[in-house]
Amino acid sequence: MNYKNALKSPVFKWVAEASSELGTDSYVIGGFVRDYLLKRGTPKDIDIVAVGSGIELAKKVASKLPGNPQVSIFKNFGTAMLKHEGIELEFVGARKESYDRNSRKPIVEDGTLEDDQKRRDFTINALAISLNKNNYGELLDPFGGVADLEKKTIRTPLEPGVTYSDDPLRMMRAIRFATQLNFEIELKSLQAITEHKERIKIISKERIVDELHKILASEKPSQGFALLQKTELLPFILPELVALQGIEEKEGQRHKDNFWHTLEVVDNIAETTDDLWLRWAALLHDIGKAPTKSFHKKIGWTFHAHEFIGSKMVYKLFKRLRMPLNDKMKYVQKMVLMSSRPQILSEEFVTDSAVRRLVHDAGDHVDDLMTLCEADITTKNSQKQKKYKNNFKLVRQKIEEVEERDHIRNFQPPVSGEEIMETFGIKPSREIGIIKEAIKEAILEGEIPNEYEPARKFMLKKGEELGLL
Ligand code: CTP
Repeated sequence: MNYKNALKSPVFKWVAEASSELGTDSYVIGGFVRDYLLKRGTPKDIDIVAVGSGIELAKKVASKLPGNPQVSIFKNFGTAMLKHEGIELEFVGARKESYDRNSRKPIVEDGTLEDDQKRRDFTINALAISLNKNNYGELLDPFGGVADLEKKTIRTPLEPGVTYSDDPLRMMRAIRFATQLNFEIELKSLQAITEHKERIKIISKERIVDELHKILASEKPSQGFALLQKTELLPFILPELVALQGIEEKEGQRHKDNFWHTLEVVDNIAETTDDLWLRWAALLHDIGKAPTKSFHKKIGWTFHAHEFIGSKMVYKLFKRLRMPLNDKMKYVQKMVLMSSRPQILSEEFVTDSAVRRLVHDAGDHVDDLMTLCEADITTKNSQKQKKYKNNFKLVRQKIEEVEERDHIRNFQPPVSGEEIMETFGIKPSREIGIIKEAIKEAILEGEIPNEYEPARKFMLKKGEELGLL
């Protein structure tokens, strides 16, 4: 079969011409070919392997392309990159490489196409299509990548132990691809990952997090986390989740396994949102349960203040993984901190004031918080499931009603501090804060509506009580 159809992008014509002029064979390889065969659309990253110098080929291609794009050269790796009309072309010379065991720095030697293919991570990523005149469009598949695509298998071209110790990031990649593509990792490979798990320590946190993001962005993220658990990589990456594993029983009382529960919550939320950070919040929403777990004779298992402890742990976890300590982190913290609020609320008679407080505290994130709580329903008892869902529906309705009437979201005080100072003829002082807080409380409690006139009246009354009039 010929795969010329995969080569519709005009860039392939330029690469083919340039390699023919240099007398260097070249092939498109890796993710582009894999995704073409899987009909996953046309990737914007194209990897080209040259049997010769990848850098020279990149330069030649750039000189031919309209606009002569700049070539970025990474001499140490023998690679070069250029961008053309939104496409990123990466060039590498075919190599027979072995890695320095203590870093990911390769020791490079020139090789044939097949040498290069066998040093790649998986058979499905080692597929190449020729860009050479004599066999343009021919698929080169020496390790059975096409068969593995059909069997939905992640398999390494070499002994898995060799492939993974060459580059331990591949252990994460195997799990990520299995999750993204809904493939199985070959048993031998899984065993090799467990055997080499400690080597993950030499991989930078940024690369690990990149893979975690991709796992979380998949349709069923639990697959990835279950594999991280099974291969024993998880303790090196997210020990907070490992600590949630297991069911304890005391005096006939058991609590649920919060690790598997968490994975269910993540899958549930993945059905309703693509927001990566909300998915992170789902993953971490219960991490405070491990350090707060305790047993009391009368009430059984408790996880007192686990939301608060959990939100503190989010900061440490982000810091350890070198994730950004910015508004995204704060958002995840807030979701974790508030993760039980709608639930507590829905268990009681839902009062307007409780809803106003929830909307006030969650602000613009109140919908996300509701989404998280709905995903948190994992009971297998269908009656209970129905009841909880219905309760949250009521809370959502109440939120809408209260919102329409009281505009609590992103609350702005209806009477400003300046007006308070002017009215009572006072300078900046503690009293202003007291009055402002009292007005806010009165609005949240429903004593007065969130409007200027009633708030001003309330201010006067409060001022009088404080002896300011
Ligand atoms: N590769 C490898 N080992 C790695 C990373 C990459 O062997 N640790 C090879 C694979 O052949 C891979 C190609 O380099 O297909 C390109 O890598 P990359 O762009 O990271 O991945 P893609 O396969 O293109 O997939 P995705 O874009 O989904 O990450």
